[in-house]
Amino acid sequence: MLSLLTPKQTILLVSLLSFSANASANPLCPRLDNGLALTPPMGWNTYNHYSCSPSESIVHSNAQALVDLGLQAQGYHFVTVDCGWTLPDRVANGTMTWNSTIFPSGFPALSTFLHNLGLGFGVYSDAGIQMCMTGTPAQVGSLCMPRAPNSDKSQANRWQSTNSWMRLLLLLGELIFLNVRILFLSASFELTVPDDNCYSEAAADYPNTDYSPTVSPSGRYQNMSSALLSTKRPIVFQICEWGVDFPSAWAPALGNSWRVTNDIIPAYRTIPRILNQVVPQTSFAGPGHWLDLDMLEVGNNVLTIPEEQTHFSFWAILKSPLVIGAALKDTTTSISTESLNILLNKDVIGYNQDSLGVAASFRRRWTEEGYEVWAGDLSGSRMVVAVANLQDTARSLTLNLTDVDVQKVGSLKDIWNGVTASNVATAYTGHVEAHGTILLELSSFTAAAAVSAPTFYSSASFTPAGDAVRTTCSTGLCTPVGSKISYLSPTGTASLSITAASAGSKLVDVYFCNNDIALSTSWLYGTNTRNMTIAVNNVVTRIEVPLSGKSSELFSPGLGWQDTGIFKVLIGGWQEGANTVVVGNQGGAAGYQSYGADFVGLGIYS
Ligand SMILES: *[C@@H]1O[C@H](CO)[C@@H](O)[C@H](O)[C@H]1NC(C)=O
Ligand SMILES: *[C@@H]1O[C@H](CO)[C@@H](O)[C@H](O)[C@H]1NC(C)=O
Ligand SMILES: *[C@@H]1O[C@H](CO)[C@@H](O)[C@H](O)[C@H]1NC(C)=O
Ligand SMILES: *[C@@H]1O[C@H](CO)[C@@H](O)[C@H](O)[C@H]1NC(C)=O
Ligand SMILES: *[C@@H]1O[C@H](CO)[C@@H](O)[C@H](O)[C@H]1NC(C)=O
Repeated sequence: MLSLLTPKQTILLVSLLSFSANASANPLCPRLDNGLALTPPMGWNTYNHYSCSPSESIVHSNAQALVDLGLQAQGYHFVTVDCGWTLPDRVANGTMTWNSTIFPSGFPALSTFLHNLGLGFGVYSDAGIQMCMTGTPAQVGSLCMPRAPNSDKSQANRWQSTNSWMRLLLLLGELIFLNVRILFLSASFELTVPDDNCYSEAAADYPNTDYSPTVSPSGRYQNMSSALLSTKRPIVFQICEWGVDFPSAWAPALGNSWRVTNDIIPAYRTIPRILNQVVPQTSFAGPGHWLDLDMLEVGNNVLTIPEEQTHFSFWAILKSPLVIGAALKDTTTSISTESLNILLNKDVIGYNQDSLGVAASFRRRWTEEGYEVWAGDLSGSRMVVAVANLQDTARSLTLNLTDVDVQKVGSLKDIWNGVTASNVATAYTGHVEAHGTILLELSSFTAAAAVSAPTFYSSASFTPAGDAVRTTCSTGLCTPVGSKISYLSPTGTASLSITAASAGSKLVDVYFCNNDIALSTSWLYGTNTRNMTIAVNNVVTRIEVPLSGKSSELFSPGLGWQDTGIFKVLIGGWQEGANTVVVGNQGGAAGYQSYGADFVGLGIYS
């Protein structure tokens, strides 16, 4: 299973439109404007099913199936050969080439085969010194030639080597899709050894990975982006460094998509883990630049059908590239009809490819009840809403329309239940299987009446006790307070007496910070969440907050731990008059992290 522990990196190229290097007019938000990927790229890739063992016959039969099963007609265009296609070393002039044992006809012929089917061709490479592969021999990557005995390992030669790698693309002429990953790269991020990026402590000449480079990896992608632009070829560039160093902040200037998280794993728990990391980043997506949630597991028989529907629904509405990772057809396997029908769902593909290019965003989560709501605008004054059932049992769930700021819906389509309804007011209730999702398209809706603004109670007026400490934040961070209370724990609290005009439950905006990124724990139990409890007169509400970080966890002031998120929750226990409000992490010892999220403030609706 080691290959499952393999972080990966993705780049891709597409040939379709004209190519230019213009950045957006807004200097604060530079965007690569190569005219490409105006909707999220769609396709098929060898990795999730075949790992780093692709072959010519595998690619041929799956590409043919992409056409025969009607997937190409729905937009799945690119066929990408992932890790395993290369030889361990470059050829004498520094060019990378394919292993002719597994690709006997060669890549130019493979390119022709795919183009004759009307498909795009992609190959995998990386921005490091070694390919994303376990096993021996290791495969040389794009940055340098560590195996050549007298190679000049200087920076200049490293860059020249990247150009050598570019030569491969030019040789192929029609090659239009390049998919890049990095296997284990820490030192392949590292530029700390000034003259030798091929430095390694390991016997096998290659570096270890620690996910904590001392220099941002962005420079490599800057160089690769420039190299791609200099080819004057239309190339969709997909960046992946697993969300290390918050690529949403810099990758849109360099590429057409970027991986947001560590790898997807073949288990349901990977889905909430990835979504909890995406929460603070959805606003960074838009035409030509997309959040990549990683390749699909739909059809790999590792998820139930409702789980596959959840997976596909969210990847689609968050505007991730939709890259099939299943065996569609080979000599022993073919995809099930049920999974195929998910991948072929025209409505859901339509939400992904919608011309507006708005990624859905996180709206509400009911922590103890185990469900949550995401929503996003679509073209034609429509909206897509997903209600995800996080529990292990089937049930009915109700969407309260005000939770997506809607009063009344003229026409509603419940995709997976196959139901349509008209003139829906106030709420919609639908059936949902364990780990399934109610996916709704709303049209002709009217907006909910504006609610009066909440009253804000700053954490600065709360009293910390026990483990809890007040922390001053860097200028402009921990908004709107400028400080926060950290180390909430089973014995660390922040308290305040708040006067309420009425008793009962109140809707509250909880302002929090959490940047506990599940990178090294992503294979096992990591969720990207932290707990927090809010007790009002000893009535305790637990919330599980997602990440809030919108800046680099490696290099930004506050390391992403001073970016405020807001979690809207109904909190009970209020009495008319004085109320004792205690924010903490009661019961935190039962979790895998006894510290809660950091606390910035409460906005209480009347
Ligand atoms: C490098 O060598 C390969 C294999 O001999 C050859 O096909 C290719 O044209 C060469 N590339 C350059 C740029 O000389
Ligand atoms: C090419 O791939 C085959 C099959 O994986 C492998 O056995 C062989 O060693 C590779 N060739 C080279 C030169 O590495
Ligand atoms: C990018 O390219 C420049 C110019 O060739 C080189 O000096 C620099 O070291 C490269 N940066 C990285 C991170 O590889
Ligand atoms: C729906 O939301 C509104 C506003 O938050 C609230 O007043 C109402 O009680 C909610 N209804 C249901 C059924 O949850
Ligand atoms: C949050 O609390 C729940 C319930 O106790 C627990 O299962 C979960 O592991 C906790 N989360 C963390 C990050 O500790």
